[in-house]
Order: sequence, then C-alpha cells, then structure tokens
Amino acid sequence: MSYVITIDGPAGAGKSTVAKDVARALGINYLDTGAIYRAIALILYESEVKAVDDYIMREALSKIKIELRDKAVLVNGFDVTGEIRTPLVDELASMYSAIPSVRKALLSLQKEQENHGSIVAEGRDVGSVVFPNAQAKFFLTASPEARAKRRYDERVAKGKPADYSEILTAIIERDKNDSSREVSPLTIPEGAMYIDTSDITEQEAVQLILDKVKEVIPNEAK
Ligand code: DC
Repeated sequence: MSYVITIDGPAGAGKSTVAKDVARALGINYLDTGAIYRAIALILYESEVKAVDDYIMREALSKIKIELRDKAVLVNGFDVTGEIRTPLVDELASMYSAIPSVRKALLSLQKEQENHGSIVAEGRDVGSVVFPNAQAKFFLTASPEARAKRRYDERVAKGKPADYSEILTAIIERDKNDSSREVSPLTIPEGAMYIDTSDITEQEAVQLILDKVKEVIPNEAK
C-alpha cells in the first residue's frame, strides 16, 4: 500500500534537504510543492497578471499547465527548474501563494501525486490541507537567524552573491506573509511531530523522521 509523509515548515528550516534524504532512504518519491508555487508565480509575473482582478487571474490560471517530470518543473511545456531559484522568485512565490484562486488551482495537481506511489511531500500546508490524511506528519522549523545562516551558506557555496542581513530581513518578511495570509497560513498541522533544527544537523533531523515513520507505519517503511 502506498503512503504519504508530509513535512511543513518555514523557509530555510532545511525541509528540502531533509525531505529528499527521507525519500531516498525510504525509496519513495519526493514532492516539492514550493517548486509548483514558484513556477506559477514566475509565469504570472512574466505575463503581468496582477492579483487585483480575480476574474483575470482565474482566466490566466486556466491557461497555465504545470507538469512535474522527475526533478524538473515544466510550465506550458517549458522547463523552468533553474529559473525558479532566485531571490526575485522567492518574493513572487510568497506573494502569489497568498491568493486563494492560485492555491485552489494548484491543489489537484498536488493531490494527484499520491496516485504515482508513496511520497514525501514538502511545503507549507501539505499536512493540513493537501494531504490531511497523511500517515506521518512533521513540522520542521528553526530560529530566523539559523535559517538565514543556512540560506547564506547555500548561496556562498553556489558562488552566488549573499548578504546575511538582507537574507534575514527577507526571511522574516516571508514568514510574516506565509503565516498571516487568510488561505492556508503556515501552521503546525494537527498530529505533526515538531522538530527544531536550529541546533541539530540535517542528518539528525532525517534520522528523527525515519525513526518516527518506522514507528507509525512499520509494515510500509522498511
Ligand atoms: O518552499 P519554498 O521556499 O520553495 O516555497 C516558495 C513559496 O511558496 C513560499 O513563500 C511559500 C509558498 N508555498 C506555499 O504557500 N505552500 C506550499 N505548500 C509550498 C510553498
């Protein structure tokens, strides 16, 4: 039988690395829901669709086709995997993901991923809204400073320009957006195990999750 594991939490808590490693260890699929929000935000921005008119927004959304292929995200057939990882798209995704019609348009695409086998889904509302019946739920977080430091180190490692205080300000701003929006605000899903990664390594977080998964679904997760 297939199963769903959800990992929610704010930006920079280490969710992506942890979720990918958990999926790899269990030999199941990884679903990055943030990448879907990033892709839609990029195309809406490039098409100059503003949030103010819901009719125009829904019209635009009905013409956008997002596909997930392996590790790639395609928008209307174009691979945008590389383009969606920029500070501009960080901001755009946070902004557009607060719009109810955007969230509604992306819900079925996310839900249908469980038809392709067991998954580890990572996001902001995967345990509460997208997969409320998931077999194991986790909420990964860390202090804003620890998260900013992680993002800073990631950018430096990739040879990209990085400014710690700018990153910290952006993280605090995105937290505010993601937690205060009316639809699907970032919350700890009911029944989720809370993991603070400020003072533990990502590998330790992975192990905590694997131990819990083996405890709740021993027959599935070997
Ligand atoms: O995880 P991420 O940084 O790639 O997510 C990008 C943005 O998308 C983030 O600002 C919050 C939003 N998001 C969301 O609202 N719901 C999700 N399930 C995943 C991401």
